[in-house]
Amino acid sequence: MTLPLHDPLPASGPVVLGLESSCDDTAAAIWDGSKIRANLIAGQAVHQQYGGVVPELASRDHEKHIVPLLEATLAASGLSPGSLDVVAFTRGPGLLGSLLVGASFAKALAWGWGLPLIGVHHMKAHVLAHFIEEPFPPFPFLCLTVSGGHTQIVRVDSPLVMTVLGRTLDDAAGEAFDKCGKLLGLDYPAGPLVDRLAAQGDPDRFAFARPDMAGLDYSFSGLKTSVLYFLRDQTRQIPDFVQANLADLCAGIQASIVSILLHKFAAAAEQSGLEHLALAGGVSANRGLRQSLQALAARQGWSVYLPDPAYCTDNAAMIARAGAFLYQSGQRDAHDLSVEARLPW
Ligand code: KG4
Ligand code: ZN
Repeated sequence: MTLPLHDPLPASGPVVLGLESSCDDTAAAIWDGSKIRANLIAGQAVHQQYGGVVPELASRDHEKHIVPLLEATLAASGLSPGSLDVVAFTRGPGLLGSLLVGASFAKALAWGWGLPLIGVHHMKAHVLAHFIEEPFPPFPFLCLTVSGGHTQIVRVDSPLVMTVLGRTLDDAAGEAFDKCGKLLGLDYPAGPLVDRLAAQGDPDRFAFARPDMAGLDYSFSGLKTSVLYFLRDQTRQIPDFVQANLADLCAGIQASIVSILLHKFAAAAEQSGLEHLALAGGVSANRGLRQSLQALAARQGWSVYLPDPAYCTDNAAMIARAGAFLYQSGQRDAHDLSVEARLPW
């Protein structure tokens, strides 16, 4: 594929093609050494009717989308493959079949174009999304990384040195949004819908469980159960209870999730003495979480860093950005590098 070079490259860092396919979004992006040139995502509507991601259907859609997506990304960037320095891809964690599509494609491109290959940790890339656009958080900082599969409090000492201080013991925060939303009859993924409806609701009308684990770990399963039993009891008496109170229910659920998340995040800030706090991952797009963290930080004198919502949910810009840091650190991966559904931190 030969495309014209429209725009000269800056002399700074490496030019990285990033590919992301860990779950149900196929994404490609190009970091040109100082900024994102192109950042495209092909979503998968096929899962909506099943109320969750169906792994086999996800792999098939990745296969369908990845070639046209790459062509569109190169065209949007104005760069030709000859301008690239490295191909970076999501190695895990994620759905094995989905990861395999992106990894195989990345390996084929790297081999065909004679470029080095770098496998990226998806959750670390969510954290490094903070270095796509200024203001960048100064090191060390704390990052609450909240997605559909993970919930972690991470101490970030450098782009390569990150330590998990707390994690969820059961559901992830995004899963809590999605499962509670499903109980309300909302389509998958329910998180963004709960966010939108909660903005019109009263967060204090319905109170749900706010489980508190020891230390800095999280648990969300008690919240989900409390929503389930509450709705079951109410709808026995009033069959259209959910429809009649949808916004207030969303506001109550969101308030519980935000309170659970920020309670431990604040404890981590106090224990570590770190005053720069950041959010990352799909749930960091949630307006209730963003506003509550800003309000809390204003009271405590902490500073807050929030990525652009486009870099919160799954995207390949963060994979390209993480790939640039890894490339500069000297990482080069062999072509037999495996993908890992449960890639350790
Ligand atoms: O990071 P992400 O895009 O994919 C994973 O790595 O899992 O996160 C997806 C999760 C889903 O659970 C989705 O419902 C949730 O993020 N999410 C939200 C919002 N936008 C995405 N949850 C609450 N409010 C939002 N605005
Ligand atoms: Zn993610």
